[in-house]
Amino acid sequence: MKQFLANKRILLGVTGSIAAYKSADLVRRLREVGAIVRVAMSENAKRFITPLTMQAVSGYPVHEELFDVQAEAAMGHIELARWADLVLIAPATADFMARLKNGNADDLLTTLCLATHAPITIAPAMNQAMWKHTLTQENLQVLKMKNVHVLGPTEGSQACGDVGFGRMIEPIDMIEKISKIFATGALAGLNVVITAGPTHEAIDPIRFITNGSTGKMGYALAEAAREAGANVTLITGPVSMPVPRYVDSIPVISANEMYDAVMKKMPECDIFIAAAAVGDYRCQTIADQKIHKDESIVQLVLERNPDIAASVGQLTEKPFIVGFAAETENVIVQAKAKRERKKMNMIIANQVGGGVGMGSDENEVTVISPYMEMSLAQATKRKLARQLIAIIANEYKR
Ligand code: C5P
Repeated sequence: MKQFLANKRILLGVTGSIAAYKSADLVRRLREVGAIVRVAMSENAKRFITPLTMQAVSGYPVHEELFDVQAEAAMGHIELARWADLVLIAPATADFMARLKNGNADDLLTTLCLATHAPITIAPAMNQAMWKHTLTQENLQVLKMKNVHVLGPTEGSQACGDVGFGRMIEPIDMIEKISKIFATGALAGLNVVITAGPTHEAIDPIRFITNGSTGKMGYALAEAAREAGANVTLITGPVSMPVPRYVDSIPVISANEMYDAVMKKMPECDIFIAAAAVGDYRCQTIADQKIHKDESIVQLVLERNPDIAASVGQLTEKPFIVGFAAETENVIVQAKAKRERKKMNMIIANQVGGGVGMGSDENEVTVISPYMEMSLAQATKRKLARQLIAIIANEYKR
């Protein structure tokens, strides 16, 4: 479960409670599971734990004031609010809960909470009588209605000598719970490997054989699979697009390199999506030096590249395999035959040309499996990718 926190950007807000001494341990544990943590502290929090401690454990300067010229120059509060994948206020005092509920923006932490689009989670910590108070309980109900996640508090002995509910939930349990916030979606926790883009098959040191694939469909699928909670590895031929956030990428050039990279990943792969336009042939010999135009005819001898998707289909322990069939005629018939030949669980068929398909921003596809055949209307590749990932998740679970 904790893997869901890898590379997640957590903005930790610390308010003035004795439980703030545990916030340093919380940061250390969050970083241990791969999260990136930035800390913002209220004035009162600094009475319990120093910004220096929080800076040392987080590895970043601590944000302390709403209007701090130096901090704003490095990363302004709006930028900080946008940066976060999750805002976690731990500990959250009764006063902070009241001000968050009221929509205040009169200090750094409340302003960050108002400005962020990220989910907000609070871990309340206070005296048991303050927690039980009807005003705190009313605030709690409103915050929950506004989709604020509330973790704890737990019951036990308190720093003030009382016994009851009001102790901040332990950092180790907090991490387990916030992991679940990210572990949602149809592909939560699954390992998805996607190939994308064209390959380059070298002729000589400066020339190669390639095709018109831009990688857009594969990249859009990687983004959509990640959004659905999967751990995504994108094995990508040469394209000029940035890799989507939180997707691991393995750049490759030739079909042989792509084959090796894919095969290495297969033992832990749950779903394999072959969206690359792999070159079917490579030069039998690659010239050491640039070929000059001395001859009127130059002959290239080509040999077959491995079929990556079909090779995955031959594995004894194979993942759920999704392939593509880009065809210019008899699209559905050819796609069905290809799915069976390559032992794929599902194939996504599309007609090439007419402003859709390879190289274009849009696509229009038919999804075919042994159990279904569904046409998806022309749409952008990003929109189609989300629909396709939903269908793949359903069929995988079948
Ligand atoms: O045979 P064809 O190239 O039309 O098959 C397309 C499907 O097979 C796509 O999913 C593509 O990514 C995959 N493929 C592959 N390795 C190859 C050729 C195609 O993985 N060498």
